Amino acid sequence: MQSKDLLQLAEQFGNPLYVYDAEKIQSQYNRLSKAFSKVNKLRINYAMKALSNVAILQLLKEMGSGLDTVSIQEVMLGLHAGYDPEKIFYTPNGVSLEEIEEVNAMGVQINIDNLSILEQFGTKYPNVPVCIRINPHVMAGGNANISVGHIDSKFGISVHQLPHLVRIVENTKMNIVGIHMHTGSDILDIEVFLYAAEILFDAAKNFKNLEFLDFGSGFKVPYKKDDIETDIEELGKKLSKRFNAFCVEYGKELTLIFEPGKFLVSEAGFFLAKVNVVKQTTSTVFAGIDSGFNHLIRPMFYGSQHHIENISHPKGKERFYSVVGYICETDTFANNRKISEIKEGDILCFRNAGAYCFSMASNYNSRYKPAEVLWLKGEGHLIRAHETFEDLLKNQIPLPVEFATI
Ligand SMILES: Cc1ncc(COP(=O)(O)O)c(C=O)c1O
Repeated sequence: MQSKDLLQLAEQFGNPLYVYDAEKIQSQYNRLSKAFSKVNKLRINYAMKALSNVAILQLLKEMGSGLDTVSIQEVMLGLHAGYDPEKIFYTPNGVSLEEIEEVNAMGVQINIDNLSILEQFGTKYPNVPVCIRINPHVMAGGNANISVGHIDSKFGISVHQLPHLVRIVENTKMNIVGIHMHTGSDILDIEVFLYAAEILFDAAKNFKNLEFLDFGSGFKVPYKKDDIETDIEELGKKLSKRFNAFCVEYGKELTLIFEPGKFLVSEAGFFLAKVNVVKQTTSTVFAGIDSGFNHLIRPMFYGSQHHIENISHPKGKERFYSVVGYICETDTFANNRKISEIKEGDILCFRNAGAYCFSMASNYNSRYKPAEVLWLKGEGHLIRAHETFEDLLKNQIPLPVEFATI
């Protein structure tokens, strides 16, 4: 997408605004499929937590994608977007048995990540095909909050508990059809994937009726110019070969599953915000925008670095700015960032705003959430309207009149 298109969309739809480039999502999907084209049965389940707008789900469905979900509400959104239940995987953590039973009744593939629920579910539904999430105890990921496969993590069933797990499966006679792991996000080193894969292969040998192995996700995408990223093509070459060899060893052609979020949508997203004020203090020049961590929390939450460009005046002399939001506490998007000279009213564009941006947005400070636009075949399509005051009031119930003077 070009800056002139983004500026035109900000003009047309108002700001702050999220824009997603459909072509980039499609090219990332194709790139991953191509990297693993040597695997006969490959399945990509989009991790919709990254960006759950129904139009994005529809776009990926058209490409043949399945869905990775973590809540019953995500499952419902997936079904609403037209996915067949068999194309939806449900990988919850810490949810109730009741929720799992409800999702199971919808015909969705259940993935269980603790022994307690496994035993209860297996006892009640021995015939339901179940996947098990293993914790391989691999420390991987760009940040402690997104490293989820290590020994202190709450996710998955420890590989050290395999004997106990196998006993539960034997006692309940439940039907284990898949093994899953997800070690974390932003993993650069493909050796980490390959090492964790070996742990999964070893675990898989304990189960006779497998149909698939799910390797989760965690691919690192570039966040700024010349940034490093996971070498998907190299990983595809090495892991496909090893996976195919494992299938021969196992005696059955299994399906290889990935569930990428960031890889598919991060780079496709742009967040546009207007500069309300340029404020020079004794130490810093702040550019204050008409947004805050209520709309894009990643810099404050994870220390993420989103590349920021002044698309209104891209050719201006570069200066150092701290880009901040309007929220009533520290709300910094970037510290001392070199950006071409900013004037009040300029539109700043945040890159990599596709994954974990809108989906983590809130109404903190009673602000409205921004609109979302999909850029498809050279045209902007509104896929979520800006919120209004009615949205803030929706579901709120005022005190009855007799309490009004308390
Ligand atoms: C189980 C699971 N699968 C897939 C993903 C997607 O990861 P990423 O966005 O890094 O591709 C996550 C992210 O939190 C996850 O927890």
